[in-house]
Amino acid sequence: MNFEERWIAKKKRTDLNETQQFWDIRAVEFNEMGKRQMDDDPVITLLKSKGAIFPGARVLDVGCGAGRYSKAFLEMGCEVVGIDISPNMIDFSKDNTASLNADHFTFKVLPWEQADLVAEGWEGYFDLVFASMSPAISGPEEVRKMIQASKGYCFMSSHLIKEDKIGAELRAVLNQENRAADYRNTLYYAFNMLWEMGCFPEFRHRENQRVKVWDVEKAANYYEHMLRATDEETKQAIRDYLDKKSDNGQIEDVNYSKNGQLLWSVESLQIEGR
Ligand SMILES: C[S@@+](CC[C@H](N)C(=O)[O-])C[C@H]1O[C@@H](n2cnc3c(N)ncnc32)[C@H](O)[C@@H]1O
Repeated sequence: MNFEERWIAKKKRTDLNETQQFWDIRAVEFNEMGKRQMDDDPVITLLKSKGAIFPGARVLDVGCGAGRYSKAFLEMGCEVVGIDISPNMIDFSKDNTASLNADHFTFKVLPWEQADLVAEGWEGYFDLVFASMSPAISGPEEVRKMIQASKGYCFMSSHLIKEDKIGAELRAVLNQENRAADYRNTLYYAFNMLWEMGCFPEFRHRENQRVKVWDVEKAANYYEHMLRATDEETKQAIRDYLDKKSDNGQIEDVNYSKNGQLLWSVESLQIEGR
């Protein structure tokens, strides 16, 4: 079995409606997080150092969220198309770039799985196809689509490790084993798949730690999704636990994560349809 087949065998089914609702609810939080300065962002530094972005470069931002990278690319003189499954995220992207020249960007609600590259005129169109921390890249088809849309570089990043205190406590309460989350193997499969296609991507990783304070309602929604709680009894157990831990409707959590990044040039790849 090659790595594409191994990835497909492991891949979980994605419910796009559920995904959209999940990210719509998290849009406000992401918008706040994305407000920090991007000048010294290590991803931007990496892309610049490889010549993957430059003034005039066409960039497709897949799962652009509230637009923090799209905005940074626009400020560097790039032409940007940002797509996202969440209408709330796209609204924030539009707001956050409203002061910039509208001739240089387009934002639209579009799940990557449903993007028709031919109809959009996106085959081999972009200098960079960029997917930062985007669950849109959940399998080999989605990686191949990135390559098909690119004539230069592709970038993707994902959590390698993500630990949160409340999540670990909830798993113990619900008697759930700490099953490796799907995202953990995303870059592993993508890296090896690309390797088998004759390409040797750059791989980097970095660590983050932060204290997160959020309201019970949002935390409950997040953990229902993460712990795949579908029945009312489990949902109620999550809510009861969070209520018990909360102070004035707020929950404090400690998050540790390690994020990985892959950057590759599509030049050496021979892909059908390109
Ligand atoms: C963790 S956020 C990252 C946002 C942004 N790329 C950044 O780095 O700030 C993940 C984003 O991917 C979007 N997303 C999730 N699944 C998607 C899909 N199938 N197609 C397009 N966007 C998707 C979510 O709505 C969300 O905005």
